Amino acid sequence: MLRKTLSSWTRPSQLCRQMSVVAKSLKYTQHGEPQDVLKLVEDKLADPQDKQVLVKILAAPINPADINTIQGKYPVKPKFPAIAGNEFVGEVVCVGKEVKDLQPGEHVVPLATGLGTWATHAVYNEDQLLAISNKVGLAEAATITVNPCTAYRMLKDFVQLSPGDTVIQNGANSAVGQAVHQLCRAWGINSVGIVRNRPEIGELKQLLECLGATAVLTEEELRTSDIFKSGQLKRPKLAFNCVGGKSATEVSRHLDNGGVVVTYGGMSREPVTVATGPLIFKDIAFRGFWMTRWSKEHYNTPERKQMFQDLCQLMVQGKFIAPTHEMVPLDQFKNATAASLNFKGFTGKKFILNMSC
Ligand SMILES: NC(=O)c1ccc[n+]([C@@H]2O[C@H](COP(=O)([O-])OP(=O)(O)OC[C@H]3O[C@@H](n4cnc5c(N)ncnc54)[C@H](OP(=O)(O)O)[C@@H]3O)[C@@H](O)[C@H]2O)c1
Repeated sequence: MLRKTLSSWTRPSQLCRQMSVVAKSLKYTQHGEPQDVLKLVEDKLADPQDKQVLVKILAAPINPADINTIQGKYPVKPKFPAIAGNEFVGEVVCVGKEVKDLQPGEHVVPLATGLGTWATHAVYNEDQLLAISNKVGLAEAATITVNPCTAYRMLKDFVQLSPGDTVIQNGANSAVGQAVHQLCRAWGINSVGIVRNRPEIGELKQLLECLGATAVLTEEELRTSDIFKSGQLKRPKLAFNCVGGKSATEVSRHLDNGGVVVTYGGMSREPVTVATGPLIFKDIAFRGFWMTRWSKEHYNTPERKQMFQDLCQLMVQGKFIAPTHEMVPLDQFKNATAASLNFKGFTGKKFILNMSC
């Protein structure tokens, strides 16, 4: 019977019929702290139709924006009941009969945002997914669409940088910060990372230097450093700020004439304050960046394809690794979500939900 059925089918897509997959997912029906509102539930998935794809999710990270979305503090508001999570890497299980470009066994990441990814399986539309090489590591693939892309765009889209130029960033040990250091190393740009002081500061500096940071300073060290004044490094043309408050002010003081500060996060929850002198005498500019907006505005563009191609190539070559992370099973979501947005800080790693353990 099976042989007869298979021989009469010409495309693997049709194997999708009657899969009867039961997916576990983390759902919420109201905003609140993740450990209070998320529930691990089981649902039978409908078989994928037409242009739909059944995906087995392999791994999905917990990013600060995911927590803020669950809390109701993010500009993206999901419709309830909602499945949490925005990024993932998954494996195509089977595809609907009108799917053209995806095959069972391929690895996929989301092209669309807000798909609800903290689940073991999901059915998505083909046009919401991007196939990526199975040679890209699990942690790298699971975290490619948000932080590496943010770093890539911020380095490309605000200031024309050439090898030997310098960028400076606070929150340099964040996942975005680690991506910035690695891309700068790949493109011959100097990157100066600013981090908060902590007992294991030596280890942290070493880690970031191994990733490609040209220099790593604490916020206190930056205030007295003559690394730019002495000519050791060119003054930065570009600064990235994910902290706000005084940290942003200090970073912007070191910019070159006409330099640009790009704010992409506000981890300290303090407003960005600007020193008057550099604003007037150096004509520095303050800009913002939101990856979600960029992705929507460049959904299927050659620029976006090129970006994923460049990042995947660096990952396969081992020149770009995932941020410091810990893989945790889906059912340990309470501890992992609580630890992911710890405002006392120094979490030191990204938690990635691993659906296969
Ligand atoms: N705009 C966009 O498109 C975009 C894209 C990606 C990320 N983001 C934002 O960028 C930020 C970093 O994201 P991520 O995923 O890279 O984060 P992550 O890996 O979880 O790292 C968090 C970073 O924030 C720092 N931090 C935490 N609490 C802090 C505080 N109270 N004061 C100062 N620093 C603090 C941490 O430093 P310690 O080690 O010192 O705690 C660490 O460097 C988040 O705000 C996120 O929402 C924005």
